[in-house]
Amino acid sequence: EEAELGSFTHFMEKEIFEQPQALENAMRGRFSDDESTAKFGGLNLDAREWRQIDRIVFCGCGTAWHACLVAEYLIERYARIPVEVEYASEFRYRNAPLDKNALFFVVSQSGETIDTLEALREAQRKGFRVLGITNGVGATIARESDGGVYQHSGPEIGVASTKAFTAQLLISGMLSLYLGRMRDLSFGDGREMVQAFKSVPGLVSQILDQADKIKAIAERYADHQDFLFLGRQSMFPIALEGALKLKEISYIHAEGYPAAEMKHGPIALISEQCPSVVLSPHGDTLQKVLSNIAETRARKGRVIAITSAGKDFPETAADDIIRIPSAHSCVMPILATIPLQLLAYHIACKRGCDVDKPRNLAKSVTVE
Ligand code: G6P
Repeated sequence: EEAELGSFTHFMEKEIFEQPQALENAMRGRFSDDESTAKFGGLNLDAREWRQIDRIVFCGCGTAWHACLVAEYLIERYARIPVEVEYASEFRYRNAPLDKNALFFVVSQSGETIDTLEALREAQRKGFRVLGITNGVGATIARESDGGVYQHSGPEIGVASTKAFTAQLLISGMLSLYLGRMRDLSFGDGREMVQAFKSVPGLVSQILDQADKIKAIAERYADHQDFLFLGRQSMFPIALEGALKLKEISYIHAEGYPAAEMKHGPIALISEQCPSVVLSPHGDTLQKVLSNIAETRARKGRVIAITSAGKDFPETAADDIIRIPSAHSCVMPILATIPLQLLAYHIACKRGCDVDKPRNLAKSVTVE
């Protein structure tokens, strides 16, 4: 095990730092020669079949379910196809009415999660075509699905998913481009997205270069028992994922919320004892999020902000600021995830937790 870890202390840390390479692997060979769209070898639908799809349902569990929520946002935004996201465990018991032209995607790092596998089987039993996004090569979900995309993230050993999640986000973005180019997305917009995806490994490396700074921030907050994670639009699922990472490995209670929902309940939790991590990149809602931050700080809640907004995010607007590069909105969910992984990791280390094997959790859950 030691040899495999190299200079890293835990597999989770190693896997966080493997992300530039894992993201590169997820993209390799998957852009058209003119770099205006994505291409996938194993989806097994031709253009005419894709045109008939008028709804896509994404199913997954845990971190993969968060990737599904980002896929919903990206596909609806860039391809304008309605997407629904289901917890795999709920889907097969709730008997949702589905249009005959619906397509299913199941997302699973391991490809073995029983809830996700049973959702796949249920959808197939009803006659739907099911595609898989999986990392585990030759896993049951990959074998039983009607086609899909391998993540090529390499083995993920840490129980808390890191590099597999960001690869799922990247593949979701590339799918939104692929489907968008079959509909209304222009050649020029497609080329911009391809350039954005190709820049991701380098941008992720730049964020990883700030690991020491993020560690120092994490250690200052490690004693708290409650955290809020806030973000809007595509940052909302990332807030959920940040909260999940923290609770999985540090046993701190954490909740993710859309930033504007804070005033409808969670604001009651805010005090000196409950800090917030606020995802506030550049964009339309930045001013609104800045006022959410001001409301939080007025109630003595400390704020760690993650932003790409440059001067639009004043140095004095939060207690701690982690700056990430500004990039195309199709890749911002990936970039915003990296500091959250490092925060969770270093808080858990500071608390002396068993980061790679957190209590009560399994890497892959094969019982219902
Ligand atoms: C378990 C793991 C989670 C993971 C989930 C789904 O609960 O602890 O980290 O996100 O299963 O796993 P999958 O392999 O289907 O992505």
